[in-house]
Amino acid sequence: MSGADASRPQPPPEVVAFYGRGLEEQRLDEGKGKLERWRTQELLARYLPPQPAVVLDVGGGTGHYSVWLAQRGYSVHLIDPVPLHVEQARARSAAQPDAQLASIAQGDARRLHWGAGQVDAVLLLGPLYHLTTREERLDCLREAWRVLRPGGTLIAVVISRFASTLDGLVNHLFADPRYAPIAWQDLRNGQHRGLDGKYFTTAYLHHPAELEPELFEAGFRDMRVLAIEGPGWLLQDFQAQWADANLRETILEVVRRTEAEPSLLGASSHLMAIGRKPSDARPSSGGDGRALVVGHDPSDLETSGAPGPPPSVATDASDGAVRPRACAWRGNAGITHLGVRWRSR
Ligand SMILES: C[S@@+](CC[C@H](N)C(=O)[O-])C[C@H]1O[C@@H](n2cnc3c(N)ncnc32)[C@H](O)[C@@H]1O
Repeated sequence: MSGADASRPQPPPEVVAFYGRGLEEQRLDEGKGKLERWRTQELLARYLPPQPAVVLDVGGGTGHYSVWLAQRGYSVHLIDPVPLHVEQARARSAAQPDAQLASIAQGDARRLHWGAGQVDAVLLLGPLYHLTTREERLDCLREAWRVLRPGGTLIAVVISRFASTLDGLVNHLFADPRYAPIAWQDLRNGQHRGLDGKYFTTAYLHHPAELEPELFEAGFRDMRVLAIEGPGWLLQDFQAQWADANLRETILEVVRRTEAEPSLLGASSHLMAIGRKPSDARPSSGGDGRALVVGHDPSDLETSGAPGPPPSVATDASDGAVRPRACAWRGNAGITHLGVRWRSR
């Protein structure tokens, strides 16, 4: 596909315009972007299947991670909806003639021009936080599920519900009276809306506990949710500490040792979810008709009428109620304070 096709889904115009300003080319080489990049690479190296493997980098931007993976022996295909990113990714790939990307195309994460079961890993390091409704995010996740081979790996990144508020605090953004309403809305419902191109563009900021249920509903299993920057991005003297090799290693070690701690996940700017398409998945399935519903209100706790707990749920209460605490599959996303119920489609 060489250009935008009007019949295909596309991101909102303000998102395309925001990235059309060219900010992504340098972002991961500057300031706290260096921590994001270091940790993302560390986690990709830990969770991607071994080389040689086919990786689809959906929303791959200007190709930072794609070209790095190609250098490491992966066959990498990049897809992004922003024409400038596609152009910059082509230039980045051409600059390493010995390890070029296998393909670069313009496209949207909700409709991939790939057949079912063709790739070993899908990266979604961007699209999920620009899809503001749960249905759009599920469309995106189900499309990733479809193109993955059985047993394939999904690696997806979202922005924390608390990121804009913490960023505002550390970087004095609340000095602008227009900032607080943006941050408070983010805290309330995750619906982030930038302002005249100042501040980050239209996005959805995930509560850490929402991520794993979304992957589950799309059919992924064996999930884990990890902090990318952890609390490291909040350091006011980050630049000075990062420049010192010993202090840098201390930051990284703190982040590693707390990366899976549920009570700290929301303090990270970005969260990474890793999931697997089950090895026995059939081509047309994708989810098993059940949804894990998570709510923030204790009244959401409801087990009546449920089709029955999944096999791995331990019902330790005498009334047989499914309690989040007893869910062996719940991973580390920390839903212990939230209600859980099962529903049929
Ligand atoms: C912050 S950038 C991240 C780029 C790159 N993955 C990285 O981690 O450096 C977010 C990316 O998501 C892409 N994106 C936004 N909406 C998308 C959609 N609906 N489908 C695919 N990509 C999308 C943007 O074009 C942009 O390149």
